[in-house]
Amino acid sequence: MFCCSCVVFYCLLVAVVAKIYLKLRIRRNGSYTCLMGKTAIVTGSNTGIGYVTALDFASRGARVILACRNENNAKDAQWRIIKETKNPNVIYKLIDMTSLESVRAFAKDINETEDRIDILVNNAGAGGLGNHNTDDGLQITMQVNHISSFLLTHLLLDKMKKSAPSRIVNVASIAARWSKLDVDKINEFQPVASPAWADTLMYANSKLCSILCTTELAAKLNPAEVTVNALHPGAVHTDIFRRMKGIIKVVAHSIINLYFKTPEEGAQTTIYVATSNDLLGISGKLFDNCRQIELYAVAQNPDLAKKVWAKSAELAKLESSEKIK
Ligand SMILES: NC(=O)c1ccc[n+]([C@@H]2O[C@H](COP(=O)([O-])OP(=O)(O)OC[C@H]3O[C@@H](n4cnc5c(N)ncnc54)[C@H](OP(=O)(O)O)[C@@H]3O)[C@@H](O)[C@H]2O)c1
Repeated sequence: MFCCSCVVFYCLLVAVVAKIYLKLRIRRNGSYTCLMGKTAIVTGSNTGIGYVTALDFASRGARVILACRNENNAKDAQWRIIKETKNPNVIYKLIDMTSLESVRAFAKDINETEDRIDILVNNAGAGGLGNHNTDDGLQITMQVNHISSFLLTHLLLDKMKKSAPSRIVNVASIAARWSKLDVDKINEFQPVASPAWADTLMYANSKLCSILCTTELAAKLNPAEVTVNALHPGAVHTDIFRRMKGIIKVVAHSIINLYFKTPEEGAQTTIYVATSNDLLGISGKLFDNCRQIELYAVAQNPDLAKKVWAKSAELAKLESSEKIK
């Protein structure tokens, strides 16, 4: 017969073994690529995975542009990165992914002031944003997680081609696997029973759109010039969970604290995809835990990718001269 203390002991044992197993599974980027003379843009780099990615690029000698929405947070991140890496070539520029106008202003500034862009990491993202439309008339989660990055990529692509070989890295999510995407409704909040589930679906849909547009863009580009890949960073303990509420927050935070990757661990795949020499010319692929993985089944659909691409171009209000043929 099991006594209470035996049950507690075995629960703790399982918890500890699971924690050790998960820690041992985490792979490091293993890249020693020097980025002196290169310029990298990382969106959403004041915190979380984006911050660690920018810190890593700065430590490799890159000129790093922190693309953030809050000036104080951006300044603070800039100061911390310069202090830690002793690389003074770290600047910030403001961008708000809920505004197409802001994305356009950011891209114009970069195109006018920067000589080159070698790496663009579309990292900014958020969940739990609810059933809201932005001033552009776009569903907020779809705009922040996909449409704004889609637009930014289009607007910076010419400069990236001139800086060849260059890399675009889209930080997606395994959540895409559970997406229920209806192309005609990618800009609509799904009417499901629970608002939290509707939010999760919206997040999943936005991340699937990002992966589908990664494969579609790769098909349009010469991989010797510009590569574009997507990745899942893992389950990472970052600010992204800040909008959870009530008991879900308490339960989830205990699990997150115990089992999720640290931001430093969570940035490894982004850094790998952005810098590893093993990936020269590799494009249109999906990565997880510093390895290429098979595209999720829902993302293995070229027709769907083409439709999502066309819809994204419409929602991003791309002018015909800006469209990639
Ligand atoms: N954490 C995970 O478990 C996980 C799993 C799968 C995928 N991801 C993806 O990884 C990426 C990084 O997330 P994270 O976990 O590092 O989360 P995070 O710590 O919350 O960082 C997200 C970054 O995006 C920025 N951002 C959010 N909304 C923005 C907006 N409207 N305009 C400009 N910037 C905005 C945030 O800026 P503020 O600080 O100003 O809000 C922050 O810098 C996201 O794309 C996320 O979807 C994360």
